[in-house]
Amino acid sequence: MRKSGPIQMEHGSMSANIESYCKLLSLASISDHYENMAIGATKTKISYQEYLYKLLQQQIIDRVDRSINAKIKKAGFPYIATIETYDFSFQPNLDEKLLKELSTLSFLKDAKNILLVGPPGVGKTHLAIAIGLEATKQRRRVKFITAEELTNELIAARQSNTLTDYLDAISRIELLIIDEIGYLDIQKESASLFFRLISKRYERSSTIITSNKPFEEWADVFGDEVIATAILDRLLHHSYPFLINGKSYRMKELFEKKKSSERKTENGGEDN
Ligand SMILES: Nc1ncnc2c1ncn2[C@@H]1O[C@H](COP(=O)(O)OP(=O)(O)OP(=O)(O)O)[C@@H](O)[C@H]1O
Ligand SMILES: [Mg+2]
Repeated sequence: MRKSGPIQMEHGSMSANIESYCKLLSLASISDHYENMAIGATKTKISYQEYLYKLLQQQIIDRVDRSINAKIKKAGFPYIATIETYDFSFQPNLDEKLLKELSTLSFLKDAKNILLVGPPGVGKTHLAIAIGLEATKQRRRVKFITAEELTNELIAARQSNTLTDYLDAISRIELLIIDEIGYLDIQKESASLFFRLISKRYERSSTIITSNKPFEEWADVFGDEVIATAILDRLLHHSYPFLINGKSYRMKELFEKKKSSERKTENGGEDN
């Protein structure tokens, strides 16, 4: 006669059941890791409780990573740059301490803005992305957009009678990065849409602006002095403006090559 007792489930069907339960509960990391971690747990003789703890921890880590990655993707950065990879020694007049402080995102809670102004290649976009990336790591809603794309989107929204919705959506972005104001002139009708957007975000949420044009020249960029002044007034009211007047990093190699060839000439053709 067969002895009564707990029915032992076959290993294969148990694995299949665990995996389907994980799927039902959206626990993909547990499904991926439970077997290997169980083998490790047997070897290292950790308790059942510790095994479960580690497995759940792995699921949490993966879920956080996934949501940050999704935020990074959604932000639309043109490339990934960090504060750590910014060479402050190349721009000695830049306030490194303040920029590093800002990358902790202290400015977001007071809805302050950051304005990075300077000639090409000094790292305006790099710094804007670096701060934006920190914000995505803190799971903030971030959007990176060029001034040209933004004006196109504003015009398209107005043409399709969805401007109010567009402005509402953009005002919910916690950190908006508008890159490259000044490279292209903005038509007067777009300038007034731009003004509406900046007004809507004013004192509510933070914006980072990069521009190759000093503020005195913004009237030309926006094609209207009154609108340009009104935009600047709101942007600058609670802000951290940085004027980066250093050398272009893109030209760095060129400078280095030049220096190296000068050294060669000084040393009679021998570089050492
Ligand atoms: N100080 C720096 N340290 C390290 N990399 C830098 C530095 N400055 C710029 N770079 C790098 O040089 C390139 C150009 O920088 P970036 O795109 O930020 O310039 P920009 O000021 O936005 O110029 P533009 O006005 O032409 O858009 C990027 O690859 C950036 O990562
Ligand atoms: Mg740039």
